[in-house]
Amino acid sequence: MGLANTCDDTNIMIFSLPTILEIKKNCDINLILFYVFVTFLICGLINRAFSSGGPAWKNGRNKMGQIPIPGPNGLPIFGSLFSLSRGLAHRKLARMASSHAARRLMAFSLGSTPAVITTDPCIAHEILTSPHFASRPIKESAKQLMFSRAIGFAPDGPHWRMLRSVASTHLFAPKRILAHEGARQLECSVMLSAVASEQSLKGHVQLRKHLQAMSLNMITEIMFGKRYDVAKLDDKALELNELVREGFELLGAFNWSDHLPWLKYFYDPFRVRERCAALVPRVERLVKKIIKEHRDRDDSTEKTRDEYDFVYVLLTLYGEEKLDEDGMVAVLWEMIFRGTDTTALLIEWIMTELILNPKIQANLHKELQTLVPNTSSTEVIVADTDVTRSPYLEAVVKEALRRHPPAHDPMIWGNDPFEFRPERFLASVGGAGIDVRGGDLRLAPFGAGRRVCPGRKLGLASVSMCVAELVMKFEWIEDERKPVDLSEELKLSCEMKKPLSAIVIPRVN
Ligand code: HEM
Repeated sequence: MGLANTCDDTNIMIFSLPTILEIKKNCDINLILFYVFVTFLICGLINRAFSSGGPAWKNGRNKMGQIPIPGPNGLPIFGSLFSLSRGLAHRKLARMASSHAARRLMAFSLGSTPAVITTDPCIAHEILTSPHFASRPIKESAKQLMFSRAIGFAPDGPHWRMLRSVASTHLFAPKRILAHEGARQLECSVMLSAVASEQSLKGHVQLRKHLQAMSLNMITEIMFGKRYDVAKLDDKALELNELVREGFELLGAFNWSDHLPWLKYFYDPFRVRERCAALVPRVERLVKKIIKEHRDRDDSTEKTRDEYDFVYVLLTLYGEEKLDEDGMVAVLWEMIFRGTDTTALLIEWIMTELILNPKIQANLHKELQTLVPNTSSTEVIVADTDVTRSPYLEAVVKEALRRHPPAHDPMIWGNDPFEFRPERFLASVGGAGIDVRGGDLRLAPFGAGRRVCPGRKLGLASVSMCVAELVMKFEWIEDERKPVDLSEELKLSCEMKKPLSAIVIPRVN
C-alpha cells in the first residue's frame, strides 16, 4: 500500500501499521520511511481530532467560509459519537452549542460523517433549500428495509422527483385528503369507544395504544383500502402492528456502523442486520399479497377516482411513473411506517399538555362547542372544515409541536419559552401567521425545502380532528397513581418515555 493512498484515510493507516512494521524491520530506508509515516499519522490524527468540528471535518473544511464554524473536537476517529449515541441527542447538542459559543451554526463529527446544526431560521432556510443538502444519508437499516427505493431515503434525482410528484398528486392533494375524511372519522370513532370502555373497565386509560391502532388504520385505509382490527386481536392486524413496531425500532436505533462503516464487521449490538433480514421477507409477503388482491379485483366502479386507495393508484400508473412490484412495496411500506407513529405520538404529547394545563383544555373545549354541537355519543362529528375554523385548536397543535421536541430560543420565543402557551400562535399577538409546515423556519417540525414532509397536511388534519374529538367527548385529568412524566425518549420521533396514563370523564350535555 503506497503512502499517498493511505494518507487519505487514517482509519486504514491504523490497520496497516503492524504489517508494515513486520515486513520492513531490517531496512534502514524503510525504517526512516516508517518514522515519517508514523509522524504523519500522529500529526494527521491530532490535526483531525483537535480541529474544531472533530475528525470528519478534514483539512479545516469548517474554516473555509468567511467565519469559521465552531464545534466540539470530539475523539479521534469517533468524533462526538460517544456522547450522542446515548440519551437525548437534541438536548446534548444544545449544551454543546452553548459551551462552544456556537450561536448560529455548529460543526461536529459523527465518526466519518461531518454534521452541522443551527437554530438560526435564516441559516436553516439556506441549508434546507440548498441542492447540496437535498439527499439524506442512508442508514444501514433503511437500505436493508428497501427504503432507498422509497421517497425518504432515495437520493436527490429523477426517481425521487417522480415519486414525490406521484405522492403529491395522488395521495396528498387536498381533495384526496378530503375524500378519505369519512375513513378517518370512522377510525377516530372506534378509538373513542375503546377509550371509553378502558376507562369504565380499569378506571384509567393508557392512551398510546389506542392512538397507534387508530393512526395505523387511518393510513392503511388510504394506502390499502382496508382496516385492521388490532383491538380484536385479529391475526393480520397483530402481524401488521408488529411489523410496523419492529421497523420503527430498527430505523430509530442508533447504529454505530452508519458512521463508522468498517465497524459493521465487528459490532452490531442491536443485531440491526439480522433483524432487518428477518423483517423484510415478512413485509414483502404481506404487502405483495395486498397488491395481488388489488390486481385480482376490479373495484374501480365502486369508488370515485379520488377515493381510490394508493395501491390501486400505483397499479394504474404507466410510462415513466410505473413502478415494479418491489418499488411499490417500498413506497407503500414507507408511507404506512412514517404516517403511523408520528401522528399518534404527537396526539399523546398534546393530550398530556392539556392535562397539565386544565385552563387551556377548558378554553379549547369552549371554542370547539361554538363550532360543533356537543354530543355524548362516540360518533365523530368534527370534520376537516371545522378544524380549519378553530384558531385555538390550531394554536394548541402548533404549541405542542414547538415544545416536543423543544424549540426554546428566547430570542425567538420571548421570555417564557419553556411554558406551554398556545396564545403565542393567536392572531391577537401576531402569531397566527407562523407556519409550521415548512414556510417559517422559526419552527420546522416537518422539515422544509425540497425534503419537507409531503404528509404534513394529512398528518395535521388527522391530529386536529382526533384532538378535537377527544376534548369534545371527555374531560381529561391526571391519573394520580401514575402522574404525568414529561421525560423524553428519542427514537425515530421524540416520544414520551413513560406513556401517558389518564382519567377520562365523559362529558354530558
Ligand atoms: C405529525 C405527523 C408528521 C410529522 C411530525 C412528520 C415529520 C417529518 C419530518 C421531520 C420529515 C423529514 C424531513 C427531512 O428529511 O428534512 C418527514 C419526511 C417524510 N414524511 Fe412525514 N411527518 C408526519 C406525518 C407524515 C405522514 C402522515 C406521512 C405519509 C402518510 C409522511 C410521509 C413522509 C415522507 C414520505 C417523508 C420523506 C420525504 C422526502 O424525503 O422527500 N409523514 N416527515
